[in-house]
Amino acid sequence: MSINAIDDCIDDWNNLQKEYAVLEDDFNTYRKQLDHLYVLQEKSQKIIKHQKRRYQLILETFKKNENNLSLSEQDAVKDIKEKIAQRQDNFKQMGDNLPRPSGKLLTCVLGPISVSLLKKSERFKYKDEYEKFKFICIIITLLFSFVNLFILETRFLDAIFHFMLLWYYCTVTLREHILMHNGSRIKGWWVFHHYISCVLSGILLIWPDGHVYHLFRRQFMAFSLYLSFVQVLQYYYQRGCLYRLRALGEKGNMDITSEGFQTWMWRGLTFLIPFLFLGHFFQLYNAYTLYRLSYHEDCFEWQVPASGFVFLLLFLGNFITTLLVIQHKISKTINQQSNKKL
Ligand code: COA
Repeated sequence: MSINAIDDCIDDWNNLQKEYAVLEDDFNTYRKQLDHLYVLQEKSQKIIKHQKRRYQLILETFKKNENNLSLSEQDAVKDIKEKIAQRQDNFKQMGDNLPRPSGKLLTCVLGPISVSLLKKSERFKYKDEYEKFKFICIIITLLFSFVNLFILETRFLDAIFHFMLLWYYCTVTLREHILMHNGSRIKGWWVFHHYISCVLSGILLIWPDGHVYHLFRRQFMAFSLYLSFVQVLQYYYQRGCLYRLRALGEKGNMDITSEGFQTWMWRGLTFLIPFLFLGHFFQLYNAYTLYRLSYHEDCFEWQVPASGFVFLLLFLGNFITTLLVIQHKISKTINQQSNKKL
Protein backbone atom coordinates (compact mmCIF):
# COMPACT_ATOMS: atom_id res chain seq x y z
CA MET A 1 0.00 0.00 0.00
CA SER A 2 1.36 3.49 -0.85
CA ILE A 3 2.25 6.11 1.82
CA ASN A 4 -0.46 8.39 0.34
CA ALA A 5 -3.17 5.81 0.93
CA ILE A 6 -2.07 5.41 4.60
CA ASP A 7 -2.07 9.21 5.10
CA ASP A 8 -5.57 9.39 3.63
CA CYS A 9 -6.71 6.69 6.04
CA ILE A 10 -5.18 8.55 9.03
CA ASP A 11 -6.88 11.81 7.94
CA ASP A 12 -10.12 9.96 7.50
CA TRP A 13 -9.76 8.36 10.95
CA ASN A 14 -9.10 11.77 12.57
CA ASN A 15 -12.19 13.26 10.89
CA LEU A 16 -14.27 10.29 11.99
CA GLN A 17 -13.07 10.77 15.60
CA LYS A 18 -14.26 14.39 15.55
CA GLU A 19 -17.60 13.25 14.17
CA TYR A 20 -17.75 10.51 16.84
CA ALA A 21 -17.15 13.05 19.63
CA VAL A 22 -20.13 15.11 18.36
CA LEU A 23 -22.22 11.94 18.11
CA GLU A 24 -21.34 11.02 21.72
CA ASP A 25 -22.41 14.47 22.95
CA ASP A 26 -25.65 14.35 20.94
CA PHE A 27 -26.41 10.84 22.11
CA ASN A 28 -25.89 11.74 25.78
CA THR A 29 -28.24 14.71 25.34
CA TYR A 30 -30.75 12.42 23.61
CA ARG A 31 -30.56 9.89 26.49
CA LYS A 32 -31.10 12.61 29.09
CA GLN A 33 -34.04 14.10 27.15
CA LEU A 34 -35.52 10.63 26.66
CA ASP A 35 -35.37 10.00 30.42
CA HIS A 36 -36.91 13.42 31.00
CA LEU A 37 -39.62 12.62 28.41
CA TYR A 38 -40.56 9.40 30.23
CA VAL A 39 -40.74 11.30 33.52
CA LEU A 40 -43.02 13.95 31.94
CA GLN A 41 -45.20 11.29 30.28
CA GLU A 42 -45.70 9.48 33.58
CA LYS A 43 -46.35 12.73 35.45
CA SER A 44 -48.90 13.92 32.87
CA GLN A 45 -50.70 10.56 32.91
CA LYS A 46 -50.91 10.65 36.72
CA ILE A 47 -52.23 14.22 36.80
CA ILE A 48 -54.82 13.54 34.05
CA LYS A 49 -56.04 10.50 35.96
CA HIS A 50 -56.21 12.46 39.20
CA GLN A 51 -57.98 15.44 37.59
CA LYS A 52 -60.54 13.19 35.86
CA ARG A 53 -61.34 11.42 39.12
CA ARG A 54 -61.75 14.70 41.02
CA TYR A 55 -63.91 16.25 38.27
CA GLN A 56 -66.12 13.20 38.43
CA LEU A 57 -66.54 13.66 42.18
CA ILE A 58 -67.34 17.37 41.71
CA LEU A 59 -69.97 16.54 39.05
CA GLU A 60 -71.52 13.90 41.31
CA THR A 61 -71.71 16.41 44.17
CA PHE A 62 -73.33 18.99 41.86
CA LYS A 63 -75.88 16.39 40.79
CA LYS A 64 -76.75 15.44 44.36
CA ASN A 65 -77.28 19.09 45.35
CA GLU A 66 -78.79 20.49 42.15
CA ASN A 67 -82.13 21.26 43.83
CA ASN A 68 -80.67 23.17 46.78
CA LEU A 69 -78.62 25.82 44.99
CA SER A 70 -78.88 29.57 45.40
CA LEU A 71 -78.89 31.75 42.25
CA SER A 72 -75.22 32.68 42.58
CA GLU A 73 -74.32 29.03 43.20
CA GLN A 74 -76.25 27.99 40.09
CA ASP A 75 -74.15 30.39 38.00
CA ALA A 76 -70.92 29.10 39.52
CA VAL A 77 -71.97 25.47 38.96
CA LYS A 78 -72.91 26.18 35.31
CA ASP A 79 -69.58 27.84 34.73
CA ILE A 80 -67.61 24.98 36.32
CA LYS A 81 -69.60 22.36 34.34
CA GLU A 82 -68.76 24.11 31.06
CA LYS A 83 -65.10 24.31 32.03
CA ILE A 84 -65.06 20.62 33.02
CA ALA A 85 -66.52 19.69 29.59
CA GLN A 86 -63.78 21.76 27.97
CA ARG A 87 -61.13 20.06 30.11
CA GLN A 88 -62.48 16.60 29.14
CA ASP A 89 -61.88 17.52 25.48
CA ASN A 90 -58.41 18.74 26.34
CA PHE A 91 -57.64 15.49 28.20
CA LYS A 92 -58.71 13.54 25.12
CA GLN A 93 -56.34 15.51 22.93
CA MET A 94 -53.53 15.14 25.49
CA GLY A 95 -54.29 11.40 25.70
CA ASP A 96 -53.71 11.10 21.94
CA ASN A 97 -50.14 12.22 22.54
CA LEU A 98 -49.47 9.98 25.54
CA PRO A 99 -48.87 6.21 25.57
CA ARG A 100 -52.01 4.27 26.49
CA PRO A 101 -52.24 0.68 27.76
CA SER A 102 -53.03 -1.74 24.91
CA GLY A 103 -56.30 -3.68 24.87
CA LYS A 104 -56.57 -7.29 26.04
CA LEU A 105 -56.08 -8.82 22.58
CA LEU A 106 -52.98 -6.80 21.73
CA THR A 107 -51.48 -7.50 25.17
CA CYS A 108 -52.25 -11.19 24.75
CA VAL A 109 -50.61 -11.37 21.29
CA LEU A 110 -47.77 -8.87 21.61
CA GLY A 111 -47.15 -8.84 25.34
CA PRO A 112 -47.34 -5.77 27.59
CA ILE A 113 -45.80 -3.24 25.19
CA SER A 114 -47.23 0.10 24.13
CA VAL A 115 -48.43 0.35 20.53
CA SER A 116 -49.52 3.99 20.90
CA LEU A 117 -48.34 6.18 18.04
CA LEU A 118 -47.82 9.54 19.65
CA LYS A 119 -47.60 11.81 16.62
CA LYS A 120 -50.30 12.48 14.04
CA SER A 121 -47.74 12.00 11.27
CA GLU A 122 -46.79 8.57 12.71
CA ARG A 123 -50.46 7.53 12.80
CA PHE A 124 -50.92 8.64 9.20
CA LYS A 125 -47.76 6.79 8.14
CA TYR A 126 -48.91 3.59 9.86
CA LYS A 127 -52.35 3.74 8.22
CA ASP A 128 -50.76 4.48 4.85
CA GLU A 129 -48.40 1.55 5.29
CA TYR A 130 -51.36 -0.70 6.28
CA GLU A 131 -53.16 0.26 3.05
CA LYS A 132 -49.98 -0.40 1.01
CA PHE A 133 -49.47 -3.76 2.71
CA LYS A 134 -53.05 -4.76 1.90
CA PHE A 135 -52.58 -3.63 -1.70
CA ILE A 136 -49.41 -5.74 -2.23
CA CYS A 137 -51.12 -8.80 -0.71
CA ILE A 138 -54.23 -8.21 -2.86
CA ILE A 139 -52.15 -8.09 -6.04
CA ILE A 140 -50.43 -11.37 -5.05
CA THR A 141 -53.87 -12.91 -4.32
CA LEU A 142 -55.18 -11.66 -7.66
CA LEU A 143 -52.32 -13.26 -9.60
CA PHE A 144 -52.39 -16.44 -7.49
CA SER A 145 -56.14 -16.95 -7.95
CA PHE A 146 -55.79 -16.26 -11.70
CA VAL A 147 -53.11 -18.98 -11.98
CA ASN A 148 -55.21 -21.39 -9.88
CA LEU A 149 -58.32 -20.70 -11.94
CA PHE A 150 -56.95 -20.76 -15.49
CA ILE A 151 -53.50 -22.39 -15.50
CA LEU A 152 -52.78 -24.90 -12.73
CA GLU A 153 -55.11 -27.15 -10.78
CA THR A 154 -53.30 -28.85 -7.92
CA ARG A 155 -54.46 -29.25 -4.32
CA PHE A 156 -50.94 -28.45 -3.11
CA LEU A 157 -50.95 -25.01 -4.79
CA ASP A 158 -54.49 -24.43 -3.51
CA ALA A 159 -53.28 -25.24 0.02
CA ILE A 160 -50.48 -22.65 -0.30
CA PHE A 161 -53.10 -20.15 -1.50
CA HIS A 162 -55.42 -20.85 1.45
CA PHE A 163 -52.47 -20.65 3.85
CA MET A 164 -51.44 -17.32 2.36
CA LEU A 165 -54.97 -15.99 2.89
CA LEU A 166 -54.95 -17.28 6.48
CA TRP A 167 -51.66 -15.48 7.18
CA TYR A 168 -52.90 -12.31 5.45
CA TYR A 169 -56.14 -12.09 7.44
CA CYS A 170 -54.34 -12.77 10.75
CA THR A 171 -51.81 -10.00 10.00
CA VAL A 172 -54.44 -7.52 8.83
CA THR A 173 -56.55 -8.16 11.94
CA LEU A 174 -53.62 -7.45 14.21
CA ARG A 175 -52.78 -4.25 12.33
CA GLU A 176 -56.42 -3.15 12.53
CA HIS A 177 -56.38 -3.56 16.30
CA ILE A 178 -53.29 -1.34 16.42
CA LEU A 179 -55.05 1.21 14.17
CA MET A 180 -58.14 1.19 16.39
CA HIS A 181 -55.95 1.63 19.46
CA ASN A 182 -54.63 4.75 17.77
CA GLY A 183 -58.02 6.30 17.06
CA SER A 184 -59.09 4.74 13.74
CA ARG A 185 -62.89 4.60 13.32
CA ILE A 186 -62.89 1.14 11.69
CA LYS A 187 -66.23 -0.50 12.46
CA GLY A 188 -66.07 -3.59 14.67
CA TRP A 189 -67.67 -5.70 11.92
CA TRP A 190 -64.79 -5.19 9.46
CA VAL A 191 -62.33 -6.49 12.07
CA PHE A 192 -64.67 -9.35 12.99
CA HIS A 193 -65.07 -10.00 9.23
CA HIS A 194 -61.31 -10.60 9.06
CA TYR A 195 -61.48 -13.00 12.03
CA ILE A 196 -64.20 -14.95 10.24
CA SER A 197 -62.13 -14.90 7.04
CA CYS A 198 -59.25 -16.46 9.03
CA VAL A 199 -61.61 -19.25 10.11
CA LEU A 200 -62.82 -19.72 6.51
CA SER A 201 -59.26 -19.92 5.15
CA GLY A 202 -58.43 -22.45 7.89
CA ILE A 203 -61.44 -24.61 6.93
CA LEU A 204 -60.57 -24.46 3.22
CA LEU A 205 -56.94 -25.29 4.02
CA ILE A 206 -57.82 -28.53 5.80
CA TRP A 207 -60.68 -29.55 3.45
CA PRO A 208 -59.45 -32.92 2.13
CA ASP A 209 -58.85 -33.31 -1.59
CA GLY A 210 -61.79 -35.06 -3.22
CA HIS A 211 -64.65 -34.88 -5.70
CA VAL A 212 -66.69 -32.29 -3.77
CA TYR A 213 -63.66 -30.04 -3.22
CA HIS A 214 -63.05 -29.99 -6.98
CA LEU A 215 -66.73 -29.21 -7.65
CA PHE A 216 -66.34 -26.03 -5.59
CA ARG A 217 -62.72 -24.96 -6.17
CA ARG A 218 -63.24 -23.19 -9.53
CA GLN A 219 -66.07 -21.13 -8.10
CA PHE A 220 -63.94 -20.22 -5.08
CA MET A 221 -60.98 -19.19 -7.26
CA ALA A 222 -63.31 -17.08 -9.43
CA PHE A 223 -64.67 -15.48 -6.25
CA SER A 224 -61.13 -14.78 -4.96
CA LEU A 225 -60.22 -13.20 -8.30
CA TYR A 226 -63.31 -11.00 -8.21
CA LEU A 227 -62.75 -10.10 -4.52
CA SER A 228 -59.15 -9.07 -5.25
CA PHE A 229 -60.39 -6.85 -8.09
CA VAL A 230 -62.98 -5.20 -5.79
CA GLN A 231 -60.32 -4.74 -3.11
CA VAL A 232 -58.10 -2.93 -5.61
CA LEU A 233 -60.99 -0.48 -6.24
CA GLN A 234 -61.56 -0.24 -2.48
CA TYR A 235 -57.84 0.50 -1.98
CA TYR A 236 -57.95 3.48 -4.37
CA TYR A 237 -61.07 4.79 -2.64
CA GLN A 238 -59.73 4.36 0.94
CA ARG A 239 -56.32 5.81 0.04
CA GLY A 240 -58.02 8.75 -1.68
CA CYS A 241 -60.04 9.40 1.50
CA LEU A 242 -56.93 9.17 3.66
CA TYR A 243 -54.92 11.64 1.58
CA ARG A 244 -57.80 14.09 1.12
CA LEU A 245 -58.63 14.08 4.83
CA ARG A 246 -54.99 14.62 5.63
CA ALA A 247 -54.79 17.48 3.16
CA LEU A 248 -57.85 19.01 4.81
CA GLY A 249 -56.10 18.67 8.17
CA GLU A 250 -59.20 16.98 9.53
CA LYS A 251 -57.89 13.50 10.18
CA GLY A 252 -59.38 12.14 13.39
CA ASN A 253 -62.12 14.77 13.34
CA MET A 254 -65.57 13.19 12.99
CA ASP A 255 -67.16 16.36 11.54
CA ILE A 256 -65.89 16.34 7.99
CA THR A 257 -67.44 19.45 6.58
CA SER A 258 -65.50 20.13 3.41
CA GLU A 259 -67.85 20.14 0.44
CA GLY A 260 -65.07 19.10 -1.96
CA PHE A 261 -64.34 16.02 0.10
CA GLN A 262 -68.03 15.06 0.28
CA THR A 263 -68.41 15.37 -3.50
CA TRP A 264 -65.31 13.28 -4.11
CA MET A 265 -66.40 10.68 -1.52
CA TRP A 266 -69.87 10.28 -3.04
CA ARG A 267 -68.43 10.00 -6.54
CA GLY A 268 -66.04 7.26 -5.29
CA LEU A 269 -68.79 5.46 -3.37
CA THR A 270 -71.28 5.54 -6.26
CA PHE A 271 -68.67 3.84 -8.43
CA LEU A 272 -67.56 1.33 -5.77
CA ILE A 273 -70.85 0.25 -4.22
CA PRO A 274 -72.31 -1.76 -7.13
CA PHE A 275 -69.08 -3.82 -7.21
CA LEU A 276 -69.26 -4.32 -3.44
CA PHE A 277 -72.88 -5.50 -3.56
CA LEU A 278 -72.05 -7.86 -6.41
CA GLY A 279 -69.26 -9.27 -4.19
CA HIS A 280 -71.72 -9.72 -1.32
CA PHE A 281 -74.14 -11.63 -3.57
CA PHE A 282 -71.23 -13.75 -4.81
CA GLN A 283 -70.69 -14.68 -1.14
CA LEU A 284 -74.37 -15.59 -0.84
CA TYR A 285 -74.08 -17.67 -4.02
CA ASN A 286 -71.04 -19.47 -2.53
CA ALA A 287 -73.11 -20.23 0.59
CA TYR A 288 -75.93 -21.58 -1.60
CA THR A 289 -73.56 -23.75 -3.71
CA LEU A 290 -71.97 -25.20 -0.57
CA TYR A 291 -75.40 -25.86 0.93
CA ARG A 292 -76.36 -27.78 -2.23
CA LEU A 293 -73.01 -29.63 -2.21
CA SER A 294 -73.51 -30.70 1.40
CA TYR A 295 -76.38 -32.91 0.09
CA HIS A 296 -74.19 -34.39 -2.67
CA GLU A 297 -73.92 -38.19 -2.52
CA ASP A 298 -70.09 -37.98 -2.34
CA CYS A 299 -70.05 -35.37 0.39
CA PHE A 300 -68.70 -36.67 3.70
CA GLU A 301 -66.66 -33.64 4.76
CA TRP A 302 -67.88 -31.32 7.56
CA GLN A 303 -65.93 -28.52 5.84
CA VAL A 304 -68.70 -28.21 3.20
CA PRO A 305 -71.61 -27.07 5.43
CA ALA A 306 -69.19 -25.23 7.74
CA SER A 307 -67.72 -23.07 4.97
CA GLY A 308 -71.23 -22.56 3.55
CA PHE A 309 -72.35 -21.21 6.92
CA VAL A 310 -69.31 -18.91 7.12
CA PHE A 311 -70.03 -17.51 3.63
CA LEU A 312 -73.63 -16.84 4.69
CA LEU A 313 -72.39 -15.03 7.81
CA LEU A 314 -69.97 -12.96 5.70
CA PHE A 315 -72.75 -12.02 3.28
CA LEU A 316 -75.13 -10.94 6.05
CA GLY A 317 -72.51 -8.95 7.98
CA ASN A 318 -70.98 -7.24 4.93
CA PHE A 319 -74.31 -6.43 3.30
CA ILE A 320 -75.97 -5.06 6.44
CA THR A 321 -72.90 -3.11 7.59
CA THR A 322 -72.38 -1.55 4.14
CA LEU A 323 -76.07 -0.51 4.06
CA LEU A 324 -75.70 1.03 7.54
CA VAL A 325 -72.50 2.86 6.52
CA ILE A 326 -74.24 4.32 3.45
CA GLN A 327 -77.33 5.29 5.47
CA HIS A 328 -75.12 7.00 8.06
CA LYS A 329 -73.22 8.88 5.35
CA ILE A 330 -76.47 10.01 3.65
CA SER A 331 -77.97 11.35 6.89
CA LYS A 332 -74.68 13.07 7.78
CA THR A 333 -74.54 14.76 4.35
CA ILE A 334 -78.21 15.86 4.65
CA ASN A 335 -77.58 17.25 8.16
CA GLN A 336 -74.54 19.16 6.98
CA GLN A 337 -76.41 20.60 4.02
CA SER A 338 -79.36 21.72 6.15
CA ASN A 339 -76.98 23.23 8.75
CA LYS A 340 -75.35 25.20 5.94
CA LYS A 341 -78.68 26.54 4.71
CA LEU A 342 -79.66 27.74 8.21
N1 COA B 1 -61.91 -2.60 6.18
C1 COA B 1 -61.02 -1.91 6.94
N2 COA B 1 -61.20 -0.59 7.28
C2 COA B 1 -62.31 0.01 6.85
C3 COA B 1 -63.29 -0.65 6.06
C4 COA B 1 -63.03 -2.02 5.72
N3 COA B 1 -63.89 -2.74 4.97
N4 COA B 1 -64.30 0.20 5.79
C5 COA B 1 -63.96 1.37 6.38
N5 COA B 1 -62.77 1.26 7.01
C6 COA B 1 -62.09 2.29 7.81
C7 COA B 1 -61.76 3.56 7.03
O1 COA B 1 -60.48 3.46 6.40
C8 COA B 1 -61.79 4.60 8.13
O2 COA B 1 -60.57 4.48 8.87
P1 COA B 1 -59.90 5.78 9.64
O3 COA B 1 -60.85 6.18 10.73
O4 COA B 1 -58.60 5.20 10.16
O5 COA B 1 -59.69 6.81 8.58
C9 COA B 1 -62.88 4.11 9.06
O6 COA B 1 -63.01 2.71 8.81
C10 COA B 1 -64.22 4.79 8.84
O7 COA B 1 -64.60 4.61 7.51
P2 COA B 1 -66.07 5.02 7.00
O8 COA B 1 -66.11 6.51 6.83
O9 COA B 1 -67.12 4.38 7.84
O10 COA B 1 -66.14 4.32 5.57
P3 COA B 1 -65.34 4.61 4.23
O11 COA B 1 -65.95 5.77 3.52
O12 COA B 1 -63.86 4.67 4.46
O13 COA B 1 -65.66 3.27 3.41
C11 COA B 1 -67.05 1.61 2.35
C12 COA B 1 -67.00 2.91 3.17
C13 COA B 1 -68.50 1.16 2.23
C14 COA B 1 -66.43 1.81 0.99
C15 COA B 1 -66.19 0.55 3.13
O14 COA B 1 -66.69 0.41 4.44
C16 COA B 1 -66.19 -0.78 2.43
O15 COA B 1 -65.42 -0.97 1.49
N6 COA B 1 -67.04 -1.73 2.86
C17 COA B 1 -67.26 -2.97 2.19
C18 COA B 1 -66.25 -4.02 2.57
C19 COA B 1 -66.73 -5.36 2.03
O16 COA B 1 -67.91 -5.62 1.99
N7 COA B 1 -65.80 -6.22 1.62
C20 COA B 1 -66.15 -7.46 1.04
C21 COA B 1 -66.41 -7.30 -0.43
S1 COA B 1 -67.08 -8.72 -1.13
